[in-house]
Amino acid sequence: MQIRPAAALTGALIGMSALFLPTATAQATGRTTHHHHHHHPVTVAHRGASGYAPENTLAAVDAADDLGIDWVENDIQRTRDGELIVMHDTTLNRTTDVEQVFPDRAPWKISDFTLDEIEKLDAGSWFGPDFQGETVPTLEEYMDRVSDNHQKLLLELKAPELYPGIERQTLRELRREGWLDHRHKRRLIVQSFNAESVRTVHRLRPDVKTGFLGTPAVADLPEYAEFSDQINPSYPTIDASYVAAVRSVDGAHGKPLEVYTWTVNDGPTAVSVAGMGVDGIITNKPDVVRDALDDAS
Ligand code: G3P
Ligand code: CA
Repeated sequence: MQIRPAAALTGALIGMSALFLPTATAQATGRTTHHHHHHHPVTVAHRGASGYAPENTLAAVDAADDLGIDWVENDIQRTRDGELIVMHDTTLNRTTDVEQVFPDRAPWKISDFTLDEIEKLDAGSWFGPDFQGETVPTLEEYMDRVSDNHQKLLLELKAPELYPGIERQTLRELRREGWLDHRHKRRLIVQSFNAESVRTVHRLRPDVKTGFLGTPAVADLPEYAEFSDQINPSYPTIDASYVAAVRSVDGAHGKPLEVYTWTVNDGPTAVSVAGMGVDGIITNKPDVVRDALDDAS
């Protein structure tokens, strides 16, 4: 496998991180063939390497790092007293021991609990005894760990309709922690299922890369492209022609819209979506996806 010297130029044109050579012969003769022309998507550890460690914890960030995975994905929400934390569900009971600690507080909504209360919870034991004592991270703790590990973050604003102003608050916190400076900006993408929320992020900080989670109709893509750089659909909703249609529209920063698809946890599916031309694969098992892509290229 060789990396084509012109990859930087071509990659910049079509927004890919790497292009792989068809064959050495083709390069030598100047012929091009699509036969072995593999596009190598980036692998993103979904909620951290959540197949191997409790989702959305520092242990899951470290598990991704231990596998050599640069990109992690998480979910941001807000406590009753206005602190930003990392959790997927809008309630605390699936991924913590809240039902034991606060038995009379059903339905255990995040927005009904203070940060102090949430910090008392065990967010690891539900996944396995090795992770007992793992806590729900604040956004700040989470960013510090991603930074220490030299990783990159696909940050999801989860259910932002429940947390008015969370876009501005999240950006303010990221800026305070240095994540919006020139060097860090390329290490951050902010995404949401809520299009208005993505639009707000783009309006407040047009320099930040953004993604819309979902599978908009092709006819609506130009509208999403006003405020998004990525369209991030679930993998069962896509095919090669949809991916091509998305990538043929320029996003908010004038580059072709990228496609990061989720949640792909097996090698054959990873190879299949890579063949459709996606730019990123979001997965609970980033080693499985990466190894399958490596073997196929
Ligand atoms: O990043 C894609 C994926 O996280 C979206 O779905 O429910 O896992 O947040 P969900
Ligand atoms: Ca998510």
